[in-house]
Amino acid sequence: MAERTVKFEVKRQSGPDAAVVWDKFELPYHPGMNVISSLREIAANPTTVDGKATTPIAYDSNCLEEVCGSCAMVINGKARMACSALIDNLEQPVKLQPLTKFPIVRDLMVDRSVLFENLKRVKAWVPLDGTYDLGSGPRILPQVQEENYPLSRCISCTICMEVCPQFNESTGFVGAATIAQVKLFNQHPTGKVLKEERLHALMGDGGIQECGYAQNCVQACPKQLPLTRAISDIGRDVIIQSVKDLFTT
Ligand code: SF4
Ligand code: FES
Repeated sequence: MAERTVKFEVKRQSGPDAAVVWDKFELPYHPGMNVISSLREIAANPTTVDGKATTPIAYDSNCLEEVCGSCAMVINGKARMACSALIDNLEQPVKLQPLTKFPIVRDLMVDRSVLFENLKRVKAWVPLDGTYDLGSGPRILPQVQEENYPLSRCISCTICMEVCPQFNESTGFVGAATIAQVKLFNQHPTGKVLKEERLHALMGDGGIQECGYAQNCVQACPKQLPLTRAISDIGRDVIIQSVKDLFTT
């Protein structure tokens, strides 16, 4: 082992119902190493500190530059992106755990499909008929572009849901990311044709009223989305829509 090393403790489960074990690993230190590069190095020689051969650690990753949102995990007790977690900035042993609010697939991999189901629930898209030439898109005022751009930076990492006390089985809360996308698509000149449907989807169980304004989401979001602003703006729009509904139904 090289003079300077990095120690890891990894929470592992071979499947959703398998027993939990903590495996310890030690790697030679390299300048610039991060959690994902370390997991790749462990996979090349999956042997624990006590010399026991094991399986490579399962985890998700893709872009390696905090863009795809796939590598979220709990690192030293904090939910964050593993590809941007530099070893130089982490206390040792580096403790790696899967996100806690999502079903385990294996080791550090979890099933985060609930976010995509929630985005479907609120129709988080611009409806387009692409079967003919649509011409150029509608003009969007620079002020609206500036407000929308930060919302479009969401990488679907689910960290805002992981840290939210209201995101749990008993509330069924959709979470901050979904609400932020409702604001983004409701402000789009074409997307807003579905505005009422989106606001209706956020009424009732699991909807926006489940938010307790803990504000953990806005502090933890790796892309600095203005989540509390989006929640309060959409909360206002949902109330206005409810009042309108009283007079139209
Ligand atoms: S809002 Fe932020 S924390 Fe939530 S999924 Fe999007 S990028 Fe991740
Ligand atoms: S690997 Fe894509 S965000 Fe980390």
